[in-house]
Amino acid sequence: MDTVATTDFIHVYEQGTDASRPPLLLLHGTGGDERDLLGLGQTVAPGASLLSPRGTVLEGAMPRFFRRLAEGVFDEDDLRRRTHELADFVEQARQRHGLTAPVAVGFSNGANIAASLLLLRPEVLAGAALLRAMSPFAKPPQADLVGKRVLILSGAMDPIVPAEDAQRLARTLSMGGASVDHRILPAGHGLSQADIGLLKGWLAEA
Ligand code: MLT
Repeated sequence: MDTVATTDFIHVYEQGTDASRPPLLLLHGTGGDERDLLGLGQTVAPGASLLSPRGTVLEGAMPRFFRRLAEGVFDEDDLRRRTHELADFVEQARQRHGLTAPVAVGFSNGANIAASLLLLRPEVLAGAALLRAMSPFAKPPQADLVGKRVLILSGAMDPIVPAEDAQRLARTLSMGGASVDHRILPAGHGLSQADIGLLKGWLAEA
């Protein structure tokens, strides 16, 4: 696929009002931008600080967080590199704004790089909600994920994410020690009201 890479992260930071809530790292899907998930973040975690970067890779005019060779076929070298760039950005933002480790809330391509962050730079995140995620690596690295909470919300009719792929991701993260809650909803690739309710409830338990 025809992709153009840029550097640095255009982003939005919204200072929260409720210090008891962990900040959210909002990661949009292919073709989205830094504003896409702000409303979702405000709905599911009222009062939380929100950090929302725009993916730095362009596929045509569509921002993404890493390159892909085809639908669901990832350029893993690029994914590794972009994951470290995103992790460095998050660490800098934490210092600048005095934030604790965020919980990632990623959708589709954003969920896939959030899963990669967990596997390559687990110290950057307190946990992650992975909405319509796939396994980012064919041979995932081993990561110490003890103490990390992970919610995976999959769609039973998702034409993009094969069911066994999301299950493999859940197994990988569990084997690393993460506390994984994997739910399969009667939905496609798009988010439903059920996703929002489950996500809100899961975040409230943190
Ligand atoms: C990806 O490329 O990350 C997945 O195929 C999901 C998508 O963005 O369509």
